[in-house]
Amino acid sequence: VLVLCGCAASEPLRFRLNAEGRDPARISRPQREAIVDTLRDLFGTPDEPAVPPGVELGTDLLPMAAGPIGSGEDGSQWGLYRKHCAGCHGISGDGAGPRAALFDPYPRDFRHGVYKYTSTAGGAKPARADLERTLRRGMPGTAMPSFDTLSDREIAALMEYMVYFGIRGETELYLLQLVIDEDEYPVDKVKVVREGALPAAASWRAAEKTVVQPPPPPPLETAEQWTASLARGRELYASTDARCVQCHGPAGKGDGEQSELYDDWNKRKKGVTPPQTKELARLFRLPIQQLYPRNFTEGIFHGGPRPVDIYWRISVGIKGTPMPAAGPAPGSSGTLKPEDIWHVVNFVRSLGDGGRRWIVGSG
Ligand code: HEC
Ligand code: HEC
Repeated sequence: VLVLCGCAASEPLRFRLNAEGRDPARISRPQREAIVDTLRDLFGTPDEPAVPPGVELGTDLLPMAAGPIGSGEDGSQWGLYRKHCAGCHGISGDGAGPRAALFDPYPRDFRHGVYKYTSTAGGAKPARADLERTLRRGMPGTAMPSFDTLSDREIAALMEYMVYFGIRGETELYLLQLVIDEDEYPVDKVKVVREGALPAAASWRAAEKTVVQPPPPPPLETAEQWTASLARGRELYASTDARCVQCHGPAGKGDGEQSELYDDWNKRKKGVTPPQTKELARLFRLPIQQLYPRNFTEGIFHGGPRPVDIYWRISVGIKGTPMPAAGPAPGSSGTLKPEDIWHVVNFVRSLGDGGRRWIVGSG
């Protein structure tokens, strides 16, 4: 086979070590090998993914998403990730594919399991339905395209691979700490599964239970009800508790006082002084990128334009960014009441096209 395909000389693809923010000179060769070998034993390679014992991942779905691009006689496809995603998100799922530097915001680094556009409260992982919406709809206003033409099974395979990247990535972070920061190796693989992989897998399962169910929206049948909802929304938006104005500005143009913002992936690249930031840059694959609060007058919502999408954005926040959750979460009552969030949704939408369309549509 090797002779036939002429690929004997090319090396098999490997996952890149997550050395972001670390000085490569301070990772010794034995440390690097201990991490890379453990991860390969537990999670396989980009061509042949494996699943650690006790972790539930669809081993029928993973091979569809992973591996080289190909198709069977029955029309079945594999290598979906390499075909559709790796150019931006990278073979290693690190968000640093060959095209990544072209985009603002950068493609997601899947290795942290942190997703922005979710329906889940309290910093939880995304629900499968959240990932599916992102894949089907794409993310308007960003480079992330829509994959709505893929079959349900193909979408399911890609989602399984995202979860795989997340569990593998969190296990890797655990290993980096164990082996490099605590200098503890050779590695006890049973311990790594117990303390790295299994808790990560459990957090993905638990997410489904934290999905926020919005209360029924307030009635908006008459012009008076709409006007009253907008007035209430405007008042809550401007309230000091909710803090929306701080970032989004008094008129929602994204020009609040708090202007120098970064997401979690870029925050680490920021030094206290400009020379420090410059010095840090060599430890990261992509240059530092600032994050801008949304300008609502443009009417573009990266996480979806439906009222319920915007409800979730405000209620659970945008994870991995400074945009806070305003709704209740386990252990916190929140700054806005669930039924009040709808008024803020209506107000925010009224500032852009979505609101105007709504007003026209409803006479
Ligand atoms: C042209 C580049 C590009 C391609 C191709 C692409 N993405 Fe993305 N993707 C992005 C960018 C950019 C973002 C980040 C947007 C942001 O942070 O607001 C993103 C974000 C995401 C997110 C994160 C959503 C969230 O809530 O945080 C998921 C999931 C995702 N992509 C999955 C995929 C999958 C699966 C594929 C292949 C089927 C794919 N992407 C192909 C550019 C791309
Ligand atoms: C600390 C700053 C900060 C505060 C406070 C804040 N936001 Fe945001 N908000 C952001 C940032 C930054 C983004 C863009 C995130 C991104 O693109 O990754 C954003 C995005 C949004 C979006 C767009 C979601 C989408 O799908 O595109 C909405 C809606 C929103 N904020 C509403 C609000 C409301 C309402 C409040 C007050 C309850 C609020 N924000 C408070 C920083 C903030």
